[in-house]
Amino acid sequence: MQTKLLRPSEDATALETAGALLRAGEVVGIPTETVYGLAANALDPDAVARIFAAKGRPQDNPLIVHIAALDDVDGIAAEFPPQAQALAQAFWPGPLTIILPKQDRIPMVTSGGLNTVGIRFPSHPMAQAIIRAAGVPLAAPSANTSGRPSTTTAQHVMEDLDGKIAAVVDGGPCTVGVESTVVSLCGARPRLLRPGGISLEQLQSVLGIVEVDRALREKIDDTEKVSAPGMKYRHYAPNAPVTVVVGPAQASADYIYAQLGENSGVLCFDECAQQFSGKAVVETFGPAEDKEEQAREVFDALRRFDDTDCTEIFAQCPSASGIGLAVANRIKKAAGFHVVDLTEGEA
Ligand code: TXA
Ligand code: MG
Repeated sequence: MQTKLLRPSEDATALETAGALLRAGEVVGIPTETVYGLAANALDPDAVARIFAAKGRPQDNPLIVHIAALDDVDGIAAEFPPQAQALAQAFWPGPLTIILPKQDRIPMVTSGGLNTVGIRFPSHPMAQAIIRAAGVPLAAPSANTSGRPSTTTAQHVMEDLDGKIAAVVDGGPCTVGVESTVVSLCGARPRLLRPGGISLEQLQSVLGIVEVDRALREKIDDTEKVSAPGMKYRHYAPNAPVTVVVGPAQASADYIYAQLGENSGVLCFDECAQQFSGKAVVETFGPAEDKEEQAREVFDALRRFDDTDCTEIFAQCPSASGIGLAVANRIKKAAGFHVVDLTEGEA
């Protein structure tokens, strides 16, 4: 299959073309504010099956359903409780996915066999225009080969999926850079299943108490049942194994420096790059104190290691406040939760 690269900046019909392909049951890479999505008609089991095939994604991993108007929730969720309405009011359109009980109209292949469905109303104007042009809600996981770092440019999507999908819409680089926050409202208490573009503190400001899923902090065995099936797989990973070093920037840089071997790579804060120059393959992902920039850069930086010949990677990691929780989670997952914590034992 020839994958078309559609450029709305040069081609006034690009978004209509994407909508028509989606209506015809094809899979299209689309920009969102978080990461690129691999979209198909969420109501069409055959179209959704093509997403799983293109990504090589395990069948039990549910897809998020994307909408372009608040009213669209009515055709997807079996109920829209007050807490969900409050979250929608505060954070939609934007990088938040809300898990609710699903209607029968949403096929089981879309929900990974669950009776619930994740719903997101993205803020990216092109994402909204494509959903409207398609005229149906769009199921869309991140547009990467399963297991690889998510994609934040149309070029990344082509690297992973050229020849496997009908088209990619180029909307430039994503402004958030990590995926949406996933919160479940299907249990007794709201539960954070994946940290993302909306911080835990922001969720708490609307919901009060929010439980935090264990899978965010530690490795989950492949055979265990987890609330967000996506969280159990090794993920976001470059080819070389990754070790994360948690702690203050200079302390973690010094620790990493002492570990460097012949073919080491280092994912580090901008300020620390100098220290590793000439000693390792160095990829930076923003200043130590700028977590928003780190979120925008982290996947691109992880991907760049695959163009190098490093055989092991050491990574610095931000603290867990704000969007730092999401950045740290992605780096730890890339490392399969292989973490050295220099703060352990400190008061
Ligand atoms: O920002 C994003 O959310 C991007 C863009 C394209 O919107 N999408 C994305 O989708 O990251 P994906 O499939 O790569 O990640 C969705 C995560 C997975 O961990 C999945 O297991 C979880 O959300 N999820 C989806 N539906 C769920 C459900 N009904 N119950 C529990 N977890 C669910
Ligand atoms: Mg993903």
